[in-house]
Amino acid sequence: MEIYHKHFTSIGSTNLWAKENAHSFPRHQLTLISADEQTAGRGRFNRSWVSPANQNIYASYGLFLRQGRPDIGNIPQILAISTCETLLDLEFSPQLKWPNDILIDKKKVAGILCETKLIENLLFVVIGIGLNVNMDKNTIQQIDRPATSLMIEGGVEYDRKTVLEDLTKRFVSDLARFLKEGFSPFHSRYEHLLIHEEGDEIKFHHHEDQIIGKFEKILPDGSLSLLLPNGQKHRFISGEIN
Ligand code: BTN
Repeated sequence: MEIYHKHFTSIGSTNLWAKENAHSFPRHQLTLISADEQTAGRGRFNRSWVSPANQNIYASYGLFLRQGRPDIGNIPQILAISTCETLLDLEFSPQLKWPNDILIDKKKVAGILCETKLIENLLFVVIGIGLNVNMDKNTIQQIDRPATSLMIEGGVEYDRKTVLEDLTKRFVSDLARFLKEGFSPFHSRYEHLLIHEEGDEIKFHHHEDQIIGKFEKILPDGSLSLLLPNGQKHRFISGEIN
């Protein structure tokens, strides 16, 4: 797959820029928008994403799909797998928190935000990743939840450009396979990377509800199956594990 790459030294949000400019992106290529700094980085659930200059990776991949593919929600999970496997190559031991948070040593090192927009009868999908690369311990303290960076975990600085290139290569190949074959070839890779084990207590936020259940498994379509206190199993396609 060909890739069209545009890099900014500073931008509000690579995801937002991609959505606002998608009409001019190539229709049959993957577009990559990256930046050295975001002044209005966005996370899931309307949170902000701490995006200081020249320390981390802020990148959004954009592609056009025909409408009606039911498995678009798996695309961020594919990027999460590609990210973990890129970090495994760097000798980290990353794990996934469902659906697509990447953790090292139980602390978040990367997050993924997937958004869509309808453009001329095609669905534009943007999958943004923030990967904490060389952020130091002081800066990490701006984040209000347990977080880390590759530098903190690995004890050395990493070249952001090389890490982004390696990640992009993997994602391009994983995405091409996913678009042809769906999520099933990725299901066992995904489960293998998961931090949750059968029977783990899961505190779960779904819309306005706070749910406590036990982790059962990840279903073949990437959704989460929890065993609820009433003994029933429930499948979730969205939500956040606390
Ligand atoms: C999360 O909340 O875990 C998702 C964080 C996603 C952050 C990335 S950084 C690049 C892209 N642009 C944004 O504004 N957000 C995503």
